[in-house]
Amino acid sequence: MPTGLIAALDTTNPQMAQRWAGQVAPHCGLLKLGLEFFLANGASGLREIDQRPVFLDLKLHDIPNTVAGGVRAVLPLRPAMLTLHASGGAAMITAARREAETAGAERPILLAVTVLTSMDASALHATGVAGGPRQQVLRLARLALDAGADGLVCSAHELAMLRDALGDGACLVVPGIRPAGSDVGDQSRVMTPGEAARAGATWIVVGRPITQAADPAAAAAAIAAEIAA
Ligand code: C5P
Repeated sequence: MPTGLIAALDTTNPQMAQRWAGQVAPHCGLLKLGLEFFLANGASGLREIDQRPVFLDLKLHDIPNTVAGGVRAVLPLRPAMLTLHASGGAAMITAARREAETAGAERPILLAVTVLTSMDASALHATGVAGGPRQQVLRLARLALDAGADGLVCSAHELAMLRDALGDGACLVVPGIRPAGSDVGDQSRVMTPGEAARAGATWIVVGRPITQAADPAAAAAAIAAEIAA
């Protein structure tokens, strides 16, 4: 399956999100709106974005009943994708999936976040995890998929390991992507769109290289062309 492009519209400003959405939607399969947009503007803010489909990146993590309630609350917004933390455990993920199923064929795809890419081995160890990050990513990936997640958010550098372990079926969504020559910003271990596509990403997520470009539409078009090549 060809790799798709997701544009991350990271802003609390609804007019800016709408402007970016209009510029980049023709070149993207999904528009990602995250915690900062949703906390600032809520469901009504999301409804005002004209373009669809939307990936609602809220990284839910709570007791199963509360996460199921959160999924229920956002289903009327018809998000195509939703995220939750695999470390919330199997019962939490299963509860989210059960709730998502109530939307029928239009249900959101559930993606599990394993180990945050901002955490290195020592940060992970400090939380009580004995194994290294890769071991923990694989453990949580299997747990999440067995419990009902459709796929995973992962770093480009975990793609090969996860494709090997999980096969072609899992949906792997990959942030931390930088076109050759663009500003790395606060991302540390980046890959180009083409490299991530070849390594087996189902979707790549690109934020600032698109939104901070002088011409966001042209930046998105160039990335879409690179992953299609
Ligand atoms: O601007 P940039 O391309 O770095 O944006 C990447 C997007 O992916 C942001 O919305 C960020 O929150 C998200 N993300 C990430 N790393 C993760 C998970 C999500 O960068 N591990």
